[in-house]
Amino acid sequence: MSENQLLEASGLVKTYRTRRGLLGRPTDIRAVDDVSLSVAPSQTLGIVGESGSGKSTTGRLLLGIEEPTEGSVRFDGNAMPRLGTAEWRALRSRMQLVFQDPLAALDRRVSIGTQIGEPLDIHAVGTERERQERVESLLSAVGLRRDQADRYPHELSGGQRQRVVIARAIATNPQLLVCDEPVSALDVSIQAQVINLLRDLQETRGIAMAFISHDLKVVRNISDRVAVMYLGRIVEEAPSEEIFRRPLHPYTQALVSSVPVPGTALRDRIILEGEPPNPAARPTGCSFHPRCSLAIARCRVEAPALVAVESGRKAACHLVASASEPEIMDS
Ligand SMILES: Nc1ncnc2c1ncn2[C@@H]1O[C@H](COP(=O)(O)OP(=O)(O)O)[C@@H](O)[C@H]1O
Ligand SMILES: [Mg+2]
Repeated sequence: MSENQLLEASGLVKTYRTRRGLLGRPTDIRAVDDVSLSVAPSQTLGIVGESGSGKSTTGRLLLGIEEPTEGSVRFDGNAMPRLGTAEWRALRSRMQLVFQDPLAALDRRVSIGTQIGEPLDIHAVGTERERQERVESLLSAVGLRRDQADRYPHELSGGQRQRVVIARAIATNPQLLVCDEPVSALDVSIQAQVINLLRDLQETRGIAMAFISHDLKVVRNISDRVAVMYLGRIVEEAPSEEIFRRPLHPYTQALVSSVPVPGTALRDRIILEGEPPNPAARPTGCSFHPRCSLAIARCRVEAPALVAVESGRKAACHLVASASEPEIMDS
């Protein structure tokens, strides 16, 4: 692959050392287990999966906020600089993070105009006057009024606060936004507005995005491609419409079956039985097999590789792979 990708991650592994209880023996858990993905310029990759599947860890690895235990990330053709170096800080103006909780991301003692302008100050963009004008145009770009610049975070609603965070994230004209559950803390009625805002910004400014959510229906309208994660691994990746039209992996099928599609009858919902995924107790073979109604003997002993099953699609499932000619992906 790798032609003209803005962001390219290969073989990412992240292990954390944890202790169960005060006297428990330290054990390593694999939060991210051999993840390879790429994001083309101006495209959005949705990353979905249940809580604990390693989405946020993947997001932090993509931005270089954490260093991978194994594997590597390339941004715009270059290896990710080490965390905290001057090269890495310079790169941060070109890739930004928007996460779930805008109140935690904002300083409640500082006016929102000042906070939106902070990245411009840090990266010394333009004159004082130009920065002020830029803050005003950013406010209107995210649907806030210019005169709201001297408001404080607590004077705004949750949706407005997330708009402030987004304005600050796009202040330096980044090429990439990693959005980690950007609407999960918002009222359902506000979620669509913020997603539409992100989609508009991406279309008008050509920003590429990695859009992380536990909720498949949230990524649907914004993603060009969708990667489905389960226990630290990508189990399926395909163009967004294909994921919804014809999910191949049994886990994706279960996720898709729970999303109502406007204008169509609700399909038979597949209820996932068994324990939610826990990286501290990873099943043998295919991690999903204890919850998979289709599992065969092979699934209990052999982990399926993520392979190309059709043009533009990949899946990690023995049943899917055996239905077509398997081809091992090397990146
Ligand atoms: N800093 C950390 N230290 C220890 N364990 C962590 C840390 N960050 C994440 N984990 C563990 O890694 C797994 C994946 O977490 P995360 O990436 O946050 O998943 P998601 O965002 O999909 O919910 C979870 O089991 C979580 O407890
Ligand atoms: Mg998360």
